[in-house]
Amino acid sequence: MIKDFHDIELADRNSFHVRQRAARLVEFDTEDELRDFFAAELPSQWMVMGGGNNILFTADYRGVLVVPRGCGIAVEGEDHESVIVRAEAGVEWDDLVAWAVERGLWGLENLSLIPGKVGAAPVQNIGAYGAEAGDTILDVRMFCPETCNFLTLSAEHCAFGYRDSVFKGSLRGRVVITSVRFRLSKIPRPDVGYGDLMRETEARGGATLRNIRDAVCSIRRSKLPDTAVTGNAGSFFKNPVVDRAAADDMLLRWPDMPVYPAADGRAKLAAGWLIDRAGMKGYREGRVGVHDRQALVLVNTGGASGGEVLALARKVQRTVLEKFGIEIETEVNIL
Ligand code: EPU
Repeated sequence: MIKDFHDIELADRNSFHVRQRAARLVEFDTEDELRDFFAAELPSQWMVMGGGNNILFTADYRGVLVVPRGCGIAVEGEDHESVIVRAEAGVEWDDLVAWAVERGLWGLENLSLIPGKVGAAPVQNIGAYGAEAGDTILDVRMFCPETCNFLTLSAEHCAFGYRDSVFKGSLRGRVVITSVRFRLSKIPRPDVGYGDLMRETEARGGATLRNIRDAVCSIRRSKLPDTAVTGNAGSFFKNPVVDRAAADDMLLRWPDMPVYPAADGRAKLAAGWLIDRAGMKGYREGRVGVHDRQALVLVNTGGASGGEVLALARKVQRTVLEKFGIEIETEVNIL
């Protein structure tokens, strides 16, 4: 059933818990409801909101927030080595990961406990511990309000990159993702090469699906604040990608700086390390701050406005630029 709210408070609908309002918010359960809504009217301003985990409202939203609620997970096919699973956009991402792990299906375990909904996963190509959603996505089904049609985009056409996809590019603001299909492996494919994951997995008795999931959950809980308690949106900034020569120059000056290989021979730097070394980890300014265990995360310690968070973000960006000459971009969508 469509649920239509007018002049609605958003504090409980965004993980930063900032108190802004939306002129209208429409929740839909089925694809038919979504099509019927847009067939009746094409609002001049609208956008999709999943769980509100990657968004910072700095003002009231004057348009229509469209919220998918369908939360089915179904097997759509299998062969001797893999299973095709469709998850609707409103499924809680971590419920999908738990579902796959319980059934012995590999591919999502490194992405355990990432907050958000399935529909948001392809948009910013969520990633952690060496894995990205795009590695297992087969295709994405979406509705296009301009034409009132549904279409399916295969993974090759999604242009997945580091925290990037076609949904942040040419399709931005033009489609509503309704479900995503994943190809998951029945054959064990442990990938525990990233950071502490190997050690944490070995400590639990080896690289089983359950142990990897438990290890990832434990590492995340130790570093990242719980959004139910402290307002935040996970990594506020993206890790900057620079030319290899620029990274080598920086290594001469800061030999312990982490550098990872990026696509096309470039180098990915750790924004968390840069912010930390610029002296801002744990920095507080009124009701906002830089998280004291992971400098990539900004926190609302209670009652802050989106504007206060944004002012802190700009200060962090300026400080990193002054110290390292590197511009760090926000990962969170700022409205
Ligand atoms: N580091 C510091 N100080 C900090 C934070 C990090 O020195 O305050 C150093 C770490 O010691 C490490 C390096 O920076 O050498 C990288 O840190 P970490 O492994 O914690 O990962 P990250 O690059 O900071 C990324 C993702 C996270 C994801 C982790 C693990 C981005 C923007 N963030 O963080 O994703 O959980 O890797 O894979 O790519 C998110 O997107 O919300 C998120 C939490």
